[in-house]
Amino acid sequence: MRIAVLVSGNGSNLQALIDAHNGKQLSGQIIGVLSNKADAYALQRAKDADIATAVISHKDYPNRESFDEAMHQQLLAWQVDLVILAGFMRILTPDFVLQWQGKMLNIHPSLLPFYKGVNTHQRVLNTGDRLHGCTVHFVTAELDAGQSIAQSVIQVGLHDTVESLAQRVHKLEHFIYPQVAQWFCTGQLSWKNGQAYFNQQPLQRPIQFAQL
Ligand code: GRF
Repeated sequence: MRIAVLVSGNGSNLQALIDAHNGKQLSGQIIGVLSNKADAYALQRAKDADIATAVISHKDYPNRESFDEAMHQQLLAWQVDLVILAGFMRILTPDFVLQWQGKMLNIHPSLLPFYKGVNTHQRVLNTGDRLHGCTVHFVTAELDAGQSIAQSVIQVGLHDTVESLAQRVHKLEHFIYPQVAQWFCTGQLSWKNGQAYFNQQPLQRPIQFAQL
């Protein structure tokens, strides 16, 4: 399986995927890392791992459609089987998503369907939730609304802050994202007609990872 990872920032999830591949826990190969920001640290991580990079800045395109088309062409050129969004901070057009539907994963720092969008840790603290976590899901046109594949949960402690939650949730992400990617690479996880399948059975609810 040929994997492209789309990033905008630090790329710690990209690093987890690279490490998983190097440690033989991810059989798919990361062929390219695409960033919409030239200064994303994720690009350095890719270079350090000898992975091809591409910078496609949304600012160079007049609209979302033409930006997405440029990304689409890059993914085709890399002959990608799986697209992994890892901190990619642009909203994708329905056309682009449709072309990669069932082959595109995202990780989100909340227990979806709760807290779609940004500032999830702050919103969890504001609400006083006792549980928080992260979700890997298939990407569909509606933001953070594609079918959830796997989740990992933490308990929110009395002393947790935005920073501590971000750190704790990141740790979970680095564990579950390579695992879900590997399920996809082995065919254990698939998508057909708008439905996720796990071990050839329709996935009824997200797979829960034990609390870390
Ligand atoms: C992660 O928290 C992920 O859930 C969200 O963006 C963040 C990316 O972090 N989609 P990193 O760039 O992988 O360190």
